[in-house]
Amino acid sequence: MNDGSGKNPRPKGTGPRRQMALILAVSLGAILIIAVGGYVIGRFADEPGPEAGGTAQLALGKSVYVAQCAACHGVNLEGQPNWRQRLPSGELPAPPHDASGHTWHHPDGFLFDVTKHGTLRFAPPGYKTTMGGFAEVLSDAEITAVIAYIKASWPPEIRARQADITARQPGS
Ligand code: HEC
Repeated sequence: MNDGSGKNPRPKGTGPRRQMALILAVSLGAILIIAVGGYVIGRFADEPGPEAGGTAQLALGKSVYVAQCAACHGVNLEGQPNWRQRLPSGELPAPPHDASGHTWHHPDGFLFDVTKHGTLRFAPPGYKTTMGGFAEVLSDAEITAVIAYIKASWPPEIRARQADITARQPGS
C-alpha cells in the first residue's frame, strides 16, 4: 500500500518509531526526575542538620539574637569596629559572631556557658567586660537556639571545623 509519497501508510502512533519515541521520552523523564531529586536532596543536605534544630529553632534563635545580642554583636553578626582592641575603659568591643570572628574557634559547651553566665566565669578576677550572662533572661532552649542561629551563618567548612572542635572538647 505504498502510495509513492514515501510516507508510512500505517496510522500514526502505532509504529515502532512512535514506540521508540515513547521509550525515549520516559527515559528522559526518569533521568530528569533523578537529577532534580538529587539536586533537591543535595540542597537539603547542605542545610543545618538536626543538631542545629531546624527552621523553628533558627527562627527562635534569630528573634533572641535581634532582641538580646544585636545591639553589641551587630544585626548582621558583624561585631563592633576594632573589636580586637581594648577600649580606654579596659573593655573589649563586642566581637563578630560571623565567620570573620573567633566564636567558631570555641566548642558548643563554651559558647553556651559564656552566653548563660557571661565572660567573667572564664576570666581572671577584675576582668572588665560588658558580656554579662543571660541566665536570668533566657531559657536554656533560647540560648541553644541563639547559638544555633549564629552557627547557621557560618559556611559549611567553618561549621565542620567548629563541629570538630566541639567533638574534641565537648565541655567548655
Ligand atoms: C552589652 C554588649 C553585649 C551584649 C548585649 C552581648 N554581648 Fe556577647 N560579648 C560582648 C563582648 C564585649 C564580648 C567579648 C568578651 C570580652 O569582654 O572579653 C562578648 C563575647 C561573647 C562571646 C564569646 C565570643 C568569643 O569568641 O570568645 C559569645 C559566645 C557571646 N558574646 C554571645 C552573646 C550572645 C549569644 C548574646 C545575646 C544573647 C550576647 N553575646 C550579647 C558584648 C555583648
